[in-house]
Amino acid sequence: MPTSPDPGVASIARIYDAYLDGEDHLPIDRETAERVARRTPWAKPAARYNRAFMARAVEDAVRAGIRQVVDIGCGMPTEPSSFSAARAADPSAVVVGFDNDPAVLARAERMRDAGVRVLEGDIREPDRIVEALEPLIDWSRPVALVATAVLQFVPDELDPAGLLRVLSGRLSAGSRLVFTHSSTDGTAPEVVAGVEEVYGRGATAPITYRSDERIMEFLAGTRLLDPGLVAVQDWLGPDLPAPPDGPAVRLAAAVGVVPG
Ligand SMILES: C[S@@+](CC[C@H](N)C(=O)[O-])C[C@H]1O[C@@H](n2cnc3c(N)ncnc32)[C@H](O)[C@@H]1O
Repeated sequence: MPTSPDPGVASIARIYDAYLDGEDHLPIDRETAERVARRTPWAKPAARYNRAFMARAVEDAVRAGIRQVVDIGCGMPTEPSSFSAARAADPSAVVVGFDNDPAVLARAERMRDAGVRVLEGDIREPDRIVEALEPLIDWSRPVALVATAVLQFVPDELDPAGLLRVLSGRLSAGSRLVFTHSSTDGTAPEVVAGVEEVYGRGATAPITYRSDERIMEFLAGTRLLDPGLVAVQDWLGPDLPAPPDGPAVRLAAAVGVVPG
């Protein structure tokens, strides 16, 4: 179920690339990113912190001996990516990304020689992702399952936590779930409404902010590593640049470990 490659519609992956100052977006995506930035100056820093958290959590997982990484909604392989983070820890780590955006798939195709393997996959069809992984992943060994800033693009009526469970239910003991999601806790209500409106009106998918309590449903059945479910920047230490003035957005981040 790839999203439309219509260049007249801003795409989730390309808007995010614009936040990251990458090179894989179109004017319409930049305009949409700017519309979000007018509602909150945190749009860009939050995207950067999200990527930095994801890369660190993947590197930590691989350093802890988890040599298989599955990244759902991996986005453009803009640095730092799950691919480079895993390989920095262990060059022989297996990393498989999935995305439903044709622009991501096209970009990844150009990077195949560098070991970037991104397959077409939609989290709304998790059984197809499991099937595609069958020859690539040994589920009896630990896997780092990455789902960062992606389930917020699946509306409630599709049961996003249930969809993720189709994948996380395959994880063996010691596996990790690396997870982030836009949260209503710590985000001003007018920012939630404004950002949901921008995506709902002019992007390939709507965005849904959820409370921390709802976000914990995605992590059910795992034991959270310290410091638990906190803002992405709280994983990154005290040396970050000062937060911008203006209404904040909060991306909640956690690493869950599958108990033995
Ligand atoms: C905000 S970006 C996050 C990228 C990356 N996970 C990160 O945290 O840096 C969201 C990504 O999820 C992808 N995405 C959105 N809906 C999806 C779906 N239903 N299935 C698979 N990927 C999806 C988008 O194309 C985009 O690349």
